[in-house]
Amino acid sequence: MRVLKDISALNSWRRNQEEMALIPTMGALHAGHMGLVSKAQQAVDTVLVSIFVNPTQFNQSSDLDSYPQDLQSDLTQLDEAGIAAVYVPDYEQLYPHGYRFKIAENELSKRFCGAHRPGHFEGVMTVVMKLLQLVRPEYVYFGEKDYQQLQLIKAMVKDFFMPTQVIACPTVRDKDGLALSSRNQRLSDAELNLAPMLYQTLIDDGDLESKKSRLQSLGFQIDYLEVYDDRLMAAVYLGDVRLIDNVPVAGKFI
Ligand code: PAJ
Repeated sequence: MRVLKDISALNSWRRNQEEMALIPTMGALHAGHMGLVSKAQQAVDTVLVSIFVNPTQFNQSSDLDSYPQDLQSDLTQLDEAGIAAVYVPDYEQLYPHGYRFKIAENELSKRFCGAHRPGHFEGVMTVVMKLLQLVRPEYVYFGEKDYQQLQLIKAMVKDFFMPTQVIACPTVRDKDGLALSSRNQRLSDAELNLAPMLYQTLIDDGDLESKKSRLQSLGFQIDYLEVYDDRLMAAVYLGDVRLIDNVPVAGKFI
């Protein structure tokens, strides 16, 4: 596996590839990320994973400081999975003028998680735009776990006539239904026992109000629980850990 640390190494590697897929990540890889890896590997010969903890998408510096990082374990997992190359840039490479230019969107990015985290999706869209311009992959893979992010990237790629195809991958869950996330590491044992009830409540019958009161009585603090498109989307707190999830609601009465 090639570990590419700068743009010139990336460019010379890229010149020798034909059709390829990019999987952007912030590292701390778990089975959710590896689900994207295996989907991409099934479809495309060459898969590049990028690892970059993107500071511009953290609206709270404490969140950035506490973001888990374990590059060695990430590289081992990707190597064992048979990934062709990993791109591990630093801040100066991706932001040569600091955060001078950014991608803004005026609708969806302001709602749901965007309402709670001002500037978050601008940071996400900006870094993804940079990665797509640098790598110019035929395909880019995103998880449905971050449904709002996925929809924004799809819209951005279409709006800027970018030649990359965005591929969505279903949310990878623990066997009890909890969506895998690096934030799950921050849950206490008691919270970890409770956390799967978020997904259970989303998929169980009942209208929005009954789901809300069920979650509240279990001890979740609700940020939002709303239908968008054909998805029931939720963000909740367990203690100080914010969890997000979403499920399809097509054909279901909410
Ligand atoms: P990160 O949280 O590392 O996630 C990288 C990709 O893995 C995203 O597309 C995310 O939706 C997907 N993913 C995470 N957990 C998943 C799960 N349980 N099931 C399926 N997919 C899952 O999302 C980001 O990084 C950043 O915002 C990024 C796009 C890299 C831009 O910095």
